[in-house]
Amino acid sequence: MEQLRLFQELDRPVSPVVTADCFERQRIEEKFAPLMREELGLGRLVSYVGNKTIPLLSLYRYKEAFAFSFVKEFIDRFGLTREDYLFDPFCGMGTTPFTAMQCGIPAIGIDKLPIAIFVAKTLFLFFSIEPQALQETFEALKAKVAKAEPAEVALDVHIMNVAFPEDTLLELRRWKGAIDTLSYPMRDIFLLLFFAILEPCSYTAKDGQFLRLRRNKRIADPTEMLQQKVYKAERDILLLRRLWGEKRQSPHPTVRLADARDLSNVRFEKPPTALITSPPYANRYDYTRTYSLELCFHFVRNFEELKALRFGILRSHIESKVDANDQPPHPVVKEVVDILRRPGKKLNNPRIPDMLTAYFVDMHKVIGEWARVLAPGAQVAMVVDNVRFEGELVPVDLVLSEMAEDVGFQVEQVLIARYKGNSSQQMGKYGRVPVRESVVIWRKGR
Ligand SMILES: C[S@@+](CC[C@H](N)C(=O)[O-])C[C@H]1O[C@@H](n2cnc3c(N)ncnc32)[C@H](O)[C@@H]1O
Repeated sequence: MEQLRLFQELDRPVSPVVTADCFERQRIEEKFAPLMREELGLGRLVSYVGNKTIPLLSLYRYKEAFAFSFVKEFIDRFGLTREDYLFDPFCGMGTTPFTAMQCGIPAIGIDKLPIAIFVAKTLFLFFSIEPQALQETFEALKAKVAKAEPAEVALDVHIMNVAFPEDTLLELRRWKGAIDTLSYPMRDIFLLLFFAILEPCSYTAKDGQFLRLRRNKRIADPTEMLQQKVYKAERDILLLRRLWGEKRQSPHPTVRLADARDLSNVRFEKPPTALITSPPYANRYDYTRTYSLELCFHFVRNFEELKALRFGILRSHIESKVDANDQPPHPVVKEVVDILRRPGKKLNNPRIPDMLTAYFVDMHKVIGEWARVLAPGAQVAMVVDNVRFEGELVPVDLVLSEMAEDVGFQVEQVLIARYKGNSSQQMGKYGRVPVRESVVIWRKGR
C-alpha cells in the first residue's frame, strides 16, 4: 500500500499544485482512488513471458500477448461456467479463446491483424493431428525444398531486403513454396511453424516497440530451426493430451478477423456474458511493423497492401490518420492534447497529440460496441497501460473507465498490476515517475 500511496502522489501531472493544467487528471484520480488497489502479483501474468512454459502457446512469439494464467485467473474470479460466453475483441494470438477452451467455456475472439488471427486459429489444428505426422511431413518437405519454387513475397517492402542474408531469404522462400503445396490442415500448421522461425533466421528482433535490425546477430539455419519447432510441437501435442485428456474435446472457440470498433458483422452465439482482453496501448506501437516479415511472406502482396493494414488497425501508432472532425472525446484527453500542442512543447514526434486523439476516439467506439453487444450484468477485465509524453501522464485506465460509465458500465475495481519505468530520456528530464499498468474491472448494468 505504501507503493500505491507513493504512486498516487507520483502518477499525476508533474506540477505540484492543482492548476488548470492538471485539473481534469486530478479530478479523475480522486474519483477512482477508492476503487484502486495494488495487486502486484498480477504483474507477471499480464505479459507473454508467462506463456513460455505453456504447450502450443509458446510455439510462436506474440510478444504482446498476456499469459494463459491471466485468463485462467479471471475466468476463476468471475466464476465462469459452461453456461457463459467469453469474448475477447483484441484476441491477438488467441490466449483468451485457447484458455477458455481448456476450461470448457464457450468463447469467441476477434482481431484485426491477419497474422494474429492466423496463429489463433491454427493453434487449435494441432489438436487434430497425430504428432508423428509432423516429423513425417517435415522429412518429405526437406527432401524437396532445394528444388521448390520460391514463394512470391512482398519484396517491395524495404525490410524484406535488409532483414535476411540473400541466401537465407531464398532458402526461406523455397521452404514457404514447399509448404504451400501441402493441403489443409498440415499447410497451416507448417506455416505457423515457419512464421515462428522468421525472427531467429533474420537480422531482426521484436524488441520494445519496434522491429529492430541487429546487423551483428547470429542467424539461425532455417532447416535446423524448423526441425526444432517440429520437435517442440510434437512434445506439446503429447503433453497437452496428457494434461487435458478429454478436455480437448471441448468445442473449439470461434476466432475471426474483425474490427473491434464495429461489431455489426460479428456473429455471436448469444450476448457474451464476460469479456477478457487487452487492447493496443496508446504507446505508438505499430503491429504492422513488428510483424512485417510474417505479413510480407504471406498476408500482403506488396507495400500498398501492408499500408492498408497499417491504416486499418486501431489508431495507436504514430502514422495513424486523423479525420478533420476527430476531437478529444474526453476532458482528460483534451487537457493533455492541449498542453502537448502548446508552442513551447518539444515533442519527439509532433504527431503524438493526433495519435492520442485518434486512439481515444477509437476506444470510445470500442467501448460503445461492448455496451451494445454484451449481456446485461456481463463482467469485463481489461489490461491497459498508462502512458506519458513529454512529462504529461495520461491515465488511460481511468479515462476508459469513465467512458465505460457513460455507456452503462459500473467500474468495480482498478487493479494495479505493475509500475513501469520511463524511457531513459524521460527519466533524465522528469525523474523516475512510474506509470501504472492496470486491470480494470467493469460490470455492465442490468
Ligand atoms: C495487446 S494485443 C492483445 C494480445 C492478446 N491478449 C494475446 O494474448 O495475444 C492487442 C491486439 O489488438 C489488435 N488490434 C489492433 N487494432 C484492432 C482492431 N481495430 N480490432 C481488433 N483488434 C485490433 C492487435 O492486432 C493486437 O493483436
